[in-house]
Amino acid sequence: MVRTAVSLVVLFVSLLVAVPANATSTPPVRFPPGFLWGVATSGFQSEGHFPDSNWTRYARKKEAYGDSIDFRHRYPQDLKRAANLGVGVFRTSVEWARIEPRKGRYDWREIRYYDDLFRRVRANGMRPMITLNHWVHPGWVHDRGAWQNEKTVQDWLRFVRFVVKRYGGGDTLWITFNEASQYIFHEVTDGKLPLSKVPVMSRHLIRAHRAAYDLIHRLRPGAMVSTNVAYGSPVNGLFDMAVFNEVTDKLDFIGVDYYYGANAENLTAVNAATGAFWNVEAQPEGLYYVLKKYQRRLPKLPLYIVEAGMATDNGKPRKDGYTRSQHLRDHLYWVQRALADGVKVMGFNYWSLTDNYEWGSYRARFGLYTVDVKKDRELRRVPTDGVATYRSVIARRGVPAGYVPVKRPGWCSVEDPAATCSGRVPTPPAP
Ligand code: BGC
Repeated sequence: MVRTAVSLVVLFVSLLVAVPANATSTPPVRFPPGFLWGVATSGFQSEGHFPDSNWTRYARKKEAYGDSIDFRHRYPQDLKRAANLGVGVFRTSVEWARIEPRKGRYDWREIRYYDDLFRRVRANGMRPMITLNHWVHPGWVHDRGAWQNEKTVQDWLRFVRFVVKRYGGGDTLWITFNEASQYIFHEVTDGKLPLSKVPVMSRHLIRAHRAAYDLIHRLRPGAMVSTNVAYGSPVNGLFDMAVFNEVTDKLDFIGVDYYYGANAENLTAVNAATGAFWNVEAQPEGLYYVLKKYQRRLPKLPLYIVEAGMATDNGKPRKDGYTRSQHLRDHLYWVQRALADGVKVMGFNYWSLTDNYEWGSYRARFGLYTVDVKKDRELRRVPTDGVATYRSVIARRGVPAGYVPVKRPGWCSVEDPAATCSGRVPTPPAP
């Protein structure tokens, strides 16, 4: 008891007096020439015209999915929009439900759609980052218990083999499971998976990732494979326990999704739990701490921010006045700071190229291009201020000279209390 009290006091005092490891005035360096810039989306969220799957079923009880932003037919123009930003990576998922809508029956019309999609990704000067599961599985898989059934592991690996053989040429990057912890979370909250069954799903996802990693490397020896971390500030440890911690020896890069941080002055991340993402106040410096933290943990691996972005409420200006352009610049400033500190960041994908179906609603809008699915029958892609900003940061390989983040760092960040509880971290202007 006494010993615990003494250790707590020692911990508290050391937090107060600790010289923040990163409160240096290291100015941000420019992004290196080979840095991978990208945009990210997912099949279900953007394609529309979707075959039977767990999510077409869940969506029946939510805001109507309709045909989303009809990426299924408008991809040629959307890929041009992406390429015009100057990005070199286009991330999307290949949907198992589209390729194999019934067990053993492949849909060749849909396969030809993906053939053309990836042909055009390359023709537009980009390389694909393919997600092999972005929370969606076919209806027939759902009917037999999805990841509760161990047959799903083998059947999914058959699908993986097909996709890797077909689209794995050149320098395709791979994400096996997008945010595996959040896949489980949605199966519990939307799919009514009993909590007692979570360990089984976890175990099967771990097994499937490990086998897919080996399979991809057998078929494409130089491939780069990951499953991305869903960074969730106060509960991050819990999220990582679900799958990530068990597969760190089967990763070629650390994929990080960063949306919401938290500090003693900003606990608005709780709004993410109810889907009111537009009420979450950004914490750009959190990204810096998250990158450093994962780099310390897995020092040999490079990091790739495979998703980062900000929600508005139906496209309206945010209550805090923060714009997409400011959000983007502020976050990239902190990535530059991480690079200056020697963190091996290899890429950054903006989530998302366009607004899309945010897992049950069109209200939270994350797109560089906004699309009013409910009111605009033409589904026009209207550029936000993020478009010009992203284009210019990519072209200059960094934020403008002298840039100081709009959002000042908060006090005592959950991401790194030792470095931030003794004072605010300075933000020197970018060179
Ligand atoms: C998911 C995306 C989602 C985004 C914004 C990420 O966790 O991978 O599918 O749209 O967050 O909420």
